[in-house]
Amino acid sequence: MNVLSLLLFLVYFLFGVDGLGFTFIEYGNGNFTIYLVGNRPIIQHSARRPFVYIGSGETEFRERYGNYKIADYTGEKIGLSSYTVTNDSRGYNLTMYSCSIKVFIRLGSEEGHVLTIDIGDIGSYNRVWIQLTADTNEAIYGGGEQYSYLNLRGRQYPIWTGEQGIGRNRSTLVTYVTDLKQSGGDYYTTYFPQPTFYSTNKYYFHHSGSNYAILDFSHPNFHEIFIARQPGRLYFNTAETFPLMVSKLTNFLGRMPNLPDWIHDGAIIGVQGGSKQMMDYISYSETHGLNITGVWIQDWAGSVDDLFGHRLFWNWEWNQELYPGLDELIIGLRDRNIHVLAYVNPYLTVDGNLFKYAEQLGYFVKNSTDETYIQDFAGIMAGSIDLTNPAAYQWYKNKIIKENMIEFGMSGWMADFSEYLPVDAKLYNNQSATSYHNIWPVLWAKLNREAVEELEMLGKIVFFLRAGFSGTGKYSTLMWAGDQDVDFTYADGIASTIPAALNMGLSGVGITHFDIGGYTTFAPLLVRREELLLRSAEYAAFGPVFRTHQGNQPKENVQFYSSPEISNKFARLTHIFKTLKNYTKIVLNDTVTSGVPAYKPLFFNYPDDVRCYNVTYQFLYGDDLLIAPVILDFRKRWDVYLPADPTASWVHIWTGQSYQGPRDVTVQAPVGNPPVFYRSTSQFVDIFKTIGNL
Ligand SMILES: *[C@@H]1O[C@H](CO)[C@@H](O)[C@H](O)[C@H]1NC(C)=O
Ligand SMILES: *[C@@H]1O[C@H](CO)[C@@H](O)[C@H](O)[C@H]1NC(C)=O
Ligand SMILES: *[C@@H]1O[C@H](CO)[C@@H](O)[C@H](O)[C@H]1NC(C)=O
Ligand SMILES: *[C@@H]1O[C@H](CO)[C@@H](O)[C@H](O)[C@H]1NC(C)=O
Ligand SMILES: *[C@@H]1O[C@H](CO)[C@@H](O)[C@H](O)[C@H]1NC(C)=O
Ligand SMILES: *[C@@H]1O[C@H](CO)[C@@H](O)[C@H](O)[C@H]1NC(C)=O
Ligand SMILES: *[C@@H]1O[C@H](CO)[C@@H](O)[C@H](O)[C@H]1NC(C)=O
Ligand SMILES: *[C@@H]1O[C@H](CO)[C@@H](O)[C@H](O)[C@H]1NC(C)=O
Ligand SMILES: *[C@@H]1O[C@H](CO)[C@@H](O)[C@H](O)[C@H]1NC(C)=O
Ligand SMILES: *[C@@H]1O[C@H](CO)[C@@H](O)[C@H](O)[C@H]1NC(C)=O
Repeated sequence: MNVLSLLLFLVYFLFGVDGLGFTFIEYGNGNFTIYLVGNRPIIQHSARRPFVYIGSGETEFRERYGNYKIADYTGEKIGLSSYTVTNDSRGYNLTMYSCSIKVFIRLGSEEGHVLTIDIGDIGSYNRVWIQLTADTNEAIYGGGEQYSYLNLRGRQYPIWTGEQGIGRNRSTLVTYVTDLKQSGGDYYTTYFPQPTFYSTNKYYFHHSGSNYAILDFSHPNFHEIFIARQPGRLYFNTAETFPLMVSKLTNFLGRMPNLPDWIHDGAIIGVQGGSKQMMDYISYSETHGLNITGVWIQDWAGSVDDLFGHRLFWNWEWNQELYPGLDELIIGLRDRNIHVLAYVNPYLTVDGNLFKYAEQLGYFVKNSTDETYIQDFAGIMAGSIDLTNPAAYQWYKNKIIKENMIEFGMSGWMADFSEYLPVDAKLYNNQSATSYHNIWPVLWAKLNREAVEELEMLGKIVFFLRAGFSGTGKYSTLMWAGDQDVDFTYADGIASTIPAALNMGLSGVGITHFDIGGYTTFAPLLVRREELLLRSAEYAAFGPVFRTHQGNQPKENVQFYSSPEISNKFARLTHIFKTLKNYTKIVLNDTVTSGVPAYKPLFFNYPDDVRCYNVTYQFLYGDDLLIAPVILDFRKRWDVYLPADPTASWVHIWTGQSYQGPRDVTVQAPVGNPPVFYRSTSQFVDIFKTIGNL
């Protein structure tokens, strides 16, 4: 095909004959088909298989400590089998009907999308299903932060933010025990669902609404999108490659800003216990050769001990008893290039003075009797700031984030939670809490982001979130993978952070990290061993942020300071992380300018290598590094798949051994030397060689 005919081809298929991105063709007998690109159908309607159904039913959300059991009952589901159609230069008006039930649907190419679908008022009905054409061998990715599977095909994904669950696998003991309190989770439970997905048929889908929805990929010939209540606009876009598709999506939904430069200079150590303890951990780290750039003191506002472990005092201001002199220590530490980070969430404990102040002003979400809704956060009783109340929002932003944290000298914080908005809460703006539940995390991210920007600290400060939804990419400065178990399980241990990062990256949120060594501890059933700490740290060393967490039972877990031997091994990993700085900066520059995530599935760069579409636990970090973290215990060797790269070979970073893909290799992978390969033609070979000798 010559250039001219290629152009004509592109013009024809991208803009259609009638100036639209899609093609609508009627086949008689009440059938029509919508083609997104080329001759690939996305919607095939016939009287026997309508593409849209409406119905009514009830959805019940049973919550316990942020874990949701959703019981959905459909009373009727009516296929809108008949249609009439008219069109104008900007799209098609469809009236879909069945007997006297009519729904208006507008097909267009709005907001830079190849196809947009707007569904008119569904009246007294309260649910809609849309069916999209699927191929049996098509793979699906995205859906927000999905932890258990990279390819979502074959399963259903409810779009409802909540706790990720502890264990997330009903055939394990940990999940069995935690499920006694409805906290075990399952493959789809996540802090960050997003009604967005990609198909290997070269399109992405996005739903702009926030109501409860289900992305159902379990059928061989169609995908079904279920949306409770009135749907928002449905978007479809196409591009030839995954990087171009993510670029389009992030152009639309928003991109993350770059991380502060200091993040790349070493570890952020998560420690607690007061000023003296903090300074002791810093000296200890320096004496043991760690490169540290930050100290994260989540208990800066104080702490309490309860059954779950060591918990924070949710009253977000400097606790002078626990942290005497912190204001001056922060300044002294900054001169040594050590940044102090704090912790905050959108709740205030009833035992704190900030709660009392905010309650007087009616700043919390209310319960059915119009009083402050006091929620039980597994033992911490707290009110939830009403983010729809402008006065409450401004107060939280100005008093807590700006004054108590940024102006106090904090260089960052964990902006925890936000996925617990009860469906029966009453909001200041009188909107339904069920519809607001999923966007609460976005409002929380926005509040944090505005505080940083209003003080002109973007690029100097980092806050990191776990909960999210559509729009999080626009406001967040960094994500972290939430609360992994301190173990090697696929469903909720170190492994789960990989599909989580990859699917989240596909959803447009490309800068993320995780708690080194995991978080959730349940002694004696579940405690962190040295091997997990080091395996997790060696994997983090080849990523954008290197941050430790002691876990919820710090004394039960092995920590980087547990013994001089562990500290020495850990120090080396911080050197690796720091040595990679110049490469990491290039990777992140790509992410912030093009939206392509820092951690990429192999098929991003190797689309012609079909095996790559099923590789879940390996990823590319930028274009030049392939990482295959060791995610199981007691391993000395690890199997790796190296994709076909016509322009380079894969060099094993520790041995210098070079391999030509496609091929399977088994490499030695003692603790401290994770399977990492670089492209032989990279311009960063010197950095990789330096690391290979560390
Ligand atoms: C219309 O769709 C029905 C059911 O899918 C199919 O049997 C029939 O062949 C189609 N007719 C045309 C003209 O495409
Ligand atoms: C399609 O519907 C829109 C909105 O109701 C209306 O403005 C437009 O004129 C309609 N176009 C056609 C061709 O019916
Ligand atoms: C309606 O669509 C047909 C193609 O299906 C196109 O030829 C025609 O120009 C369109 N009508 C208007 C008013 O744009
Ligand atoms: C930090 O790392 C550099 C090498 O990148 C090393 O020379 C330096 O001594 C380290 N600093 C500390 C405090 O460990
Ligand atoms: C509403 O909250 C108040 C505390 O703020 C509590 O006393 C009251 O019982 C709650 N009402 C209901 C119906 O739960
Ligand atoms: C919410 O409803 C109440 C009672 O009807 C009304 O007084 C108030 O102005 C409404 N608030 C907003 C933000 O619309
Ligand atoms: C769940 O746990 C069982 C038993 O340990 C294991 O065989 C299975 O692979 C796990 N499934 C997932 C998805 O992690
Ligand atoms: C990283 O880049 C800076 C300049 O941008 C340069 O001075 C430094 O030597 C580089 N470091 C390494 C390890 O290549
Ligand atoms: C970042 O990426 C942009 C766009 O690709 C490029 O123009 C710029 O030079 C890059 N900056 C650095 C520091 O690499
Ligand atoms: C990927 O895995 C799925 C099932 O897990 C399988 O059906 C499919 O054939 C695999 N694709 C490739 C290219 O291996």
